[in-house]
Amino acid sequence: MNSFKGRSLCIIDDFSKEERLYLFSQVKRLKAAVAADDRAVMDSFRINDPDFGIYEVFLEDSTRTKESFRNAANFHHAKLTEMSTDNSSFNKGESYADTFNTVIGYNNRIFIIRSKVEGVCKYLSQECSSYAARNGLPFVPAFINAGDGKHEHPTQELLDEYTFLEDNEWSTESLHVALVGDLYHGRTVHSKADGLKLWNKVRVDLIAPEELAMPESYVTKMKDNGFEVRTFGSIEEYLNQSDIAKKWYFTRPQLERMGEKILAKADSLRSSITFRKEFMDMLPENTKFYHPLPRHKEHPTIPTFLDETPLNGWERQSINGMYCRIVLLGLVAGKLGDDFIPAAKTEEPKKPEDQWIKEVPGSTGTKKEEISEGVKPIRDGIVIDHICKGDTPSEIRRHMTLIRKVMNLDDFKGGEWVSESANGQFKGLIFRPGTYTLDHKQVKRLAAVAPGCTLNIIENGKVARKFRTSLPPRIYNFDDIMCINEACISNDKQSENVQTMFIKTHDNRYRCAYCGRVHTFKEIFKH
Ligand code: CP
Repeated sequence: MNSFKGRSLCIIDDFSKEERLYLFSQVKRLKAAVAADDRAVMDSFRINDPDFGIYEVFLEDSTRTKESFRNAANFHHAKLTEMSTDNSSFNKGESYADTFNTVIGYNNRIFIIRSKVEGVCKYLSQECSSYAARNGLPFVPAFINAGDGKHEHPTQELLDEYTFLEDNEWSTESLHVALVGDLYHGRTVHSKADGLKLWNKVRVDLIAPEELAMPESYVTKMKDNGFEVRTFGSIEEYLNQSDIAKKWYFTRPQLERMGEKILAKADSLRSSITFRKEFMDMLPENTKFYHPLPRHKEHPTIPTFLDETPLNGWERQSINGMYCRIVLLGLVAGKLGDDFIPAAKTEEPKKPEDQWIKEVPGSTGTKKEEISEGVKPIRDGIVIDHICKGDTPSEIRRHMTLIRKVMNLDDFKGGEWVSESANGQFKGLIFRPGTYTLDHKQVKRLAAVAPGCTLNIIENGKVARKFRTSLPPRIYNFDDIMCINEACISNDKQSENVQTMFIKTHDNRYRCAYCGRVHTFKEIFKH
């Protein structure tokens, strides 16, 4: 079994460390064969099938990614098609799913997509597999993310890692790298939050002014992955301390994506992340600069006078792009990788599906419900207690309005209040008299919108049953949840009719399964 065949690469984590190291070993072998003009070895890498369809769909500009993939496909002697997106039926409001399903039907197996829409490859890899199956197509289509909005650029990450390894004597022991530039918009640096796990010990120095700083979720991810992270506001500030990385990875300022206020400060922002001649003597020996490119001809952050210096690592990095993409296509096509032995999977202990709702022991129906503060005890109904314990009263009030909507609780009966406990913490309580039968789906909704609360079922003036909620591991299949990232394929703004799926993070937040945006539980419902 070839474990690479038909695989999609939507985020860098889709390929494990071992799989990437295998890919890099093949890139090294191919580069050596090309350098030696060893035709036999080069031929052993080729798909060599004029009917094997590779489709390039670039909905954003590109030179390196598009051209290196195009040259890689030509190397393979495969059928390469470039969709002319300017005059496709995208312009008639056709969805991504319908568009790609159409061309899958024409015997195309690998899709390389660049789009502003985040999570598009992940979505299509699910959607189009179903299309292929229901139409009896003899393959599973693979999707390669060539850059999706501000999210990820996993094939750039492959070539960056390969180039770092070349300059690290192939050691994966440790890496110290400075990421410089527009860390806010730069999808290449966002892929590094998981990509750099390739090394056992990682130190990352983030150099960017506040306006272009790395989003908090990626910094958190780096720290969760065990990276040591430091932040600096400018190159100057960075060079005025003694612990300077020998690898600097620059990324292009994308000020055009920002508002007027930021544009007014463009010169000073650029200056803080642009390398200057006067800094040369402050660099440690054997420093190398890298850049995914393009660099701006009027405002290059790596000025052209550096091209002829030993600092130049970005040109080889760009050349490596084609070799990494040749090998990637060969692996996904199933031409390469037969000799790769995947690590044995360690089975995760199965968690009970219903861990998010637990009956509190001892709720035997004998205890009297204690609803106080002037409200007459209810005879039959539900009481949701301990809502947002510890939040401010106004936050609790706001959230109780959301709970009412999510749980579709009748607004004309019962009530809610905020009370203060003995230790000074506030909590909310909602009560509704009447008969409420909460099914599995509704209880899951309650756990998602009101984790840590208690749900009391009141019968004959007594607590018949009491449950405690905690956040479900996954939330999906609800019509009223949505990723807050407007660029995400699952956001209503994209009109792609994609159901968001959220996956709980280790710190009790929710990551969108498509674009990776992290949400608090208060942010996932649309209401
Ligand atoms: N590095 C990179 O993605 O460059 P292009 O935008 O030219 O593809």
